Parts: sequence; C-alpha cells; structure tokens
Amino acid sequence: MKELPRLSLGLFPTPCYPLEAISARYGRDIWMKRDDLCGVALGGNKVRKLEYLLAEAQNGGCDTVFTTGSAQSNHAMLTAACAARLGMRCVLFLKKRGVTDARGNLLLDKLYGAEVRFFDTDQYSYIYDQMLALDEELSAQGHKCCAIPVGGSTPLGAVGYVGCAEEIAAQCDSVGHLVSAVGSGGTAAGLLLGAKLYLPGARLTGVSVYPDAFEDIVPQLAEDAAGLLDASFPRTEGDFRVVSRIGGGYGVPNPADTPYIEELARLEGILLDPVYTGKAWAGMLELLKEGAFPGDGSIVFVHTGGAAALFALDLPRP
Ligand SMILES: Cc1ncc(COP(=O)(O)O)c(C=O)c1O
Repeated sequence: MKELPRLSLGLFPTPCYPLEAISARYGRDIWMKRDDLCGVALGGNKVRKLEYLLAEAQNGGCDTVFTTGSAQSNHAMLTAACAARLGMRCVLFLKKRGVTDARGNLLLDKLYGAEVRFFDTDQYSYIYDQMLALDEELSAQGHKCCAIPVGGSTPLGAVGYVGCAEEIAAQCDSVGHLVSAVGSGGTAAGLLLGAKLYLPGARLTGVSVYPDAFEDIVPQLAEDAAGLLDASFPRTEGDFRVVSRIGGGYGVPNPADTPYIEELARLEGILLDPVYTGKAWAGMLELLKEGAFPGDGSIVFVHTGGAAALFALDLPRP
C-alpha cells in the first residue's frame, strides 16, 4: 500500500479494551476503542484525519487553515487545536446554529486562538463561497490558505481511519462488529476500508446523527480512499449498514439516550456526548437488545470523542 504524508499530532495507538461491567450487563463481549483519549484537546476522531489533511496543507506551503461546521463543531475545535500546534493561523467559518455563546467547543476554539466567524445560514455552499472570498483577500497579502470541508470527510481524511482499524486488529482478536457514529461519513469510510484490509469478516454499523445518504456516501469515500492508497476495496454482502439515531434533529439530544449515557459513566467511568457518541452508543445497545449483531465475535465501539458538548447542552430526561 502507498504511504501518504502524515503528521504526528495524536498519541496513537489509542487504548482498546473490553468493557467488563457493560459486557456482563448486556451478555455480549463489548470493547471500546478510545479515540477520545488521543491526546489532543478532549480527544476525538478528527485528529486522525487532520494528521493527513494538515500534512497536505503544510506540504503545499499553506500558513492558514479554514474549516467549517456548526457552532459547537468538534471538528472545528480540533482543527483549531492542531493548527495552533503547527503555528498555522486558523479561521473557523461556523454556522450560527445551536449554542453560540462561549461554552463547550466555542470556549476551546478561543483558547486555541482560532478566529471564529459566524454565518446565519443552513447552506455549506454559502460558507464555501465566503471561504473563497477570504482566500482571495489573504492570497493578495501573500498568504496561502487551505480549506478543509465539513468534518474533514474527504478521501484523504478518511485514510486516517484505516489506521484505526489496523490498530483494532492488533488489539482485539475476535472482532465481529465495529460500531461508530456517522456525521459526515469519513470515519465510517476509513473504518470500512480498514476492516477490509485488516479485519476481514468484521461488519461495520454506522449510527447516523445527520440526515444524509450515508449508505452511498460512506462506500464512495472508502473507494476513493482506497484509490489514494492503491489498495483494493472488495465489497461483501452485509459489510456495512447505516441506522439512524437522529431523533429530534442534528445536535438535539435524545431523551431516550440519557439513561445509556449515565449507565456507561457509572459502570465504566467513560463520558459520551449527547450529539454523536451518546446517540451511537444508545443505538448500538438497542440493536443489541433486538438481536441485530449476529455471530459471537466481539462488538467494538469506536469512541470518537465529543465530550465538550456536555458543557454546552443539557441531557434531557426521558
Ligand atoms: C464526536 C464525533 N463523533 C463522530 C463524528 C462523526 O464522524 P464523521 O464526520 O467522520 O462521520 C463526529 C463528527 O463531527 C464527531 O465530532
């Protein structure tokens, strides 16, 4: 496989271990891959993507990075953190949606010295136009800018999660299923490709928290990532499914998830957020109760971070 330029920004491999109390309660071997412990800010999945995306930006001579997301975007915050560490200027073009005061990730964005610009729009196309305009302005002053799309979910960003599957293969020898939250698709795409390469036979369940056609987006991103790596990507029946746990909407906590979030905190000491990992975890456990994880291989839940949302949103009661 081709080696692509990569920066070292996180502490990898992250831990992966069985959740004993949860496994005993649910009668199934459940493991967790702790990408929330990857050593940057409060951790999270974007660091693996940014190791590739920012390597490309630096190799291209960029001194400024732009990205976008909602007001409380984990991706934006982690981009701010990584850019600061690399000495790059970071401009965040955030949708003026959700919690916009200085709490949660917005507090961290400021701490990392990012410049935050809000846009009162639901359309990323509008935001990308604003990025182009600032790019022109800064280029005229001699700067070079790189624009990372929402979630860092490009084929190159997805390559970051191939390495996560490789780590899991070395840490757990009985993987039947991988489970992760899906917001823009890059994490699931990298896991899907990585499972083909390192965990043959494991199936991926993506729990979506955003209404997009991930059944198509994820395999397409995985195929494009395989192209970058000169790797093969043979699909097999049932290797990937998407289940929705959007509930009241993107960024809106589900009351039904709160007991699952509390249960994991109290049994294992692990924090989940109500926007991504709490929805994915609750969705996984409900599927498990329905018998929707066939076979007896372990289920590995990929913890993708997001804890800052706990300091911006309330956990609603069922
Ligand atoms: C905490 C967390 N988990 C999961 C995801 C979903 O990852 P992806 O956008 O690669 O689908 C995100 C995306 O922003 C996230 O912030």
